[in-house]
Amino acid sequence: MALAILCSGGDAPGMNAALKKFVDHVYKCGQTPWFIYDGLEGMIDGTIRQAYHKDVAGILHNGGTIIGSSRSKRFYDPVYRRQAFENLQKYGIDGVVVLGGDGSYNAFEVLSREHPVNFVGIPGTIDNDIYGTEYCLGVDTALNVIRHAVDNIRDTASSFKRAFVVETMGRECGYLAAVTAITSGAEICAIPEICFNKDAAQEQLKKEISGGRRYVLAIVAEGTKMTEEIRQWLSDEIGMETRVTVLGHIQRGGNPTVRERLMAFEFTVHAVDLLLHNHSVRKAIGYRNGKFEAMDITDVNAGHYKIPDNILRDLHYLD
Ligand code: F6P
Repeated sequence: MALAILCSGGDAPGMNAALKKFVDHVYKCGQTPWFIYDGLEGMIDGTIRQAYHKDVAGILHNGGTIIGSSRSKRFYDPVYRRQAFENLQKYGIDGVVVLGGDGSYNAFEVLSREHPVNFVGIPGTIDNDIYGTEYCLGVDTALNVIRHAVDNIRDTASSFKRAFVVETMGRECGYLAAVTAITSGAEICAIPEICFNKDAAQEQLKKEISGGRRYVLAIVAEGTKMTEEIRQWLSDEIGMETRVTVLGHIQRGGNPTVRERLMAFEFTVHAVDLLLHNHSVRKAIGYRNGKFEAMDITDVNAGHYKIPDNILRDLHYLD
């Protein structure tokens, strides 16, 4: 069998580890691995090449993806989707492993409704916003990158008696912000999922400041669009000189953590095995309760990820 892999949407640390495992595992199973370069754009343009062990030597410790990724506008057009399908046929690809987020999953669900394409998705996004899985590739590394930045900010915040607003990525999902707030002991956290209770926060912060509190850390998820509002509030109502740090794309880079690499290996082996042992597959692998399980892509795309209650419970001032 000829199996291909592509990365689509935002890159995430751990993708290279997955690519290495993909090549090693497919050859180990006596089959042929292929790379589709530059995501859906590459599928449309036919940049599809056989992959060899030498292509994946010395890559697993690097962030990003050696085969490139893209966000494809052309893929919304059925003409280009047909072209992408014909390219898969041209190279005799029997199944595709899709490393990406919900946009990529949706794209493949649509493609597979129009054309007979076998695929298995591996959740790869720092946002951790895919239904049916507790973990997406890239998340542990992103959380550690953010932790490092927030630890540094705390040093300067406490020295100057300042407040800091740190904006994290995550699109509409507040997972990165919530976990960061808990694990870095931030006073304030704002996420899109729950309303931030300013009055309760204000009362408590004022009490603490008059009792000697020297600084305030606020972690704000980009999806709230509240970064500026919270800066102004800390400055005007709480009365602290306030600075803003938008972490931006540094959260997407960096060497994958050990956990990330191990998760990448597991996700990949499960995805490849599913394609090898089934004729018609339209699924995504999820990690739940310590197990890797395949779910139908339609169910995954129809569902909505929820941050676990035990994380939300530990946040302050959320209604
Ligand atoms: O989905 C991953 C992500 O990094 C989001 O957290 C962020 O909102 C978005 O991608 C940024 O997209 P781009 O790299 O296209 O600017």
